[in-house]
Amino acid sequence: MKTIYTGIKQLLAFTGENSPRSGHAQRETGLIENAAVLVSGDKIIAAGPRRIVESLPEAADAEAIETGGICLPAFIDSHTHAVFAEPRLKDFSMRTAGASYAEIKQAGGGINSSIGAVRAASAEDLEKSLLIRAGSFIKAGTGTAEVKSGYGLDRDSELKMLKAIKSASEKTPLTMIPTLLAAHSVPPEFAGHADDYLDYIEKEIFPSVEKEGLAKFADIFCEKGYFSPAQAKRYLNSARKHGMLPKAHVEQMSRSGGTAAAAACGAISADHADYCAAEDIAAMKDSGTIAALLPASNYFLGLKKFPPAREFIQAGIPVAIATDFNPGTCPCLNMQFVISCACVNCGLAPEEALCAATINGAKALGLEDRGMIMPGMRADLAFFDYDDYRELAYFFGDNACVRTVIAGVTVYEAGNKHAKGISASCSREAK
Ligand code: NIG
Ligand code: FE
Repeated sequence: MKTIYTGIKQLLAFTGENSPRSGHAQRETGLIENAAVLVSGDKIIAAGPRRIVESLPEAADAEAIETGGICLPAFIDSHTHAVFAEPRLKDFSMRTAGASYAEIKQAGGGINSSIGAVRAASAEDLEKSLLIRAGSFIKAGTGTAEVKSGYGLDRDSELKMLKAIKSASEKTPLTMIPTLLAAHSVPPEFAGHADDYLDYIEKEIFPSVEKEGLAKFADIFCEKGYFSPAQAKRYLNSARKHGMLPKAHVEQMSRSGGTAAAAACGAISADHADYCAAEDIAAMKDSGTIAALLPASNYFLGLKKFPPAREFIQAGIPVAIATDFNPGTCPCLNMQFVISCACVNCGLAPEEALCAATINGAKALGLEDRGMIMPGMRADLAFFDYDDYRELAYFFGDNACVRTVIAGVTVYEAGNKHAKGISASCSREAK
């Protein structure tokens, strides 16, 4: 089965090396005007100027879809906490009344307040709500999302979260990459005894996750009041022995040393990175660690400070951007908003932000088969109803995605309920 998508006003193909883009290369979008993309099965077989692609012999028997608009690789959201049981509206009300994230934690809100509902929820309910959210990701043009555990914080509940991700993955076209975030916070049973909790993770959680092959990555929240750099090293090195690749939440609220610890463990990405200093950036450069910036969480927390994206770009560190979708600091799964926020608040050029949301997102997840629109790549495409790609960053708060193609199949088409591959169980209407 072949399909040719035609009439694309601007195709951002991100052609080039299949590697993280940094420095000036982060501005190279591989822009082609009046373009077409030819897809066979789940792969792209040609992409380029319309008349060239249309005249290929392989295009002769392809179904033609005149899409117009802008076409990008479907977004790759490399950092989400999309499994959770309840929104944290009480935290939100406290914050609008002026409380900080730390003050909310102090008052009994924060990460640990999400634990109760997740522990009480059935695996089926977690899976069901995740599937509804997967449908929303797809409608916003996202084809791949990393999804973390981290609201269970005991063996059974962490496994329950990871199993919900696994079983939901089998029912939605959205690719979900699972990450074990057992060290998201010290759970109440271990209050004041973070090292004992790490003993417990090493003894009880890592072996089970490894045995069942439930996580590609392991993540830790390195921050004052959560886990120290030494604890991060211990956790990430031990996770690696259990087959999980390291990544970490670092320097989110303060400079606490997580970046150097993560880099020393060879982390694929250092996430948030708001308070990174020159030494941290140097450590990332040595270890080839990607800066995964999450500016929508700064927006939602009402912070004045945003991650120093320009410093990373100047230092030649590849920058990815992601939503951080979670119930505490970022209840937003729309990458279009994150792109706008990264441009307005971190000084990224629209070209850099789009690279950060696609090819560099793929690299922050160790993915080789997506993030570019080139022959051989998986056909993950997002189409937007705009004339110029910069409108993606300009019309903030909008979702202009009109079609999402994942692995060669149109899984979402605006206004076409029948054509979408978002199954009934993935859609909010089915709730
Ligand atoms: O990335 N900082 C740690 N984790 C999340 C917040 C999670 C929560 O508040 O529930 C983050 O911002
Ligand atoms: Fe996060």
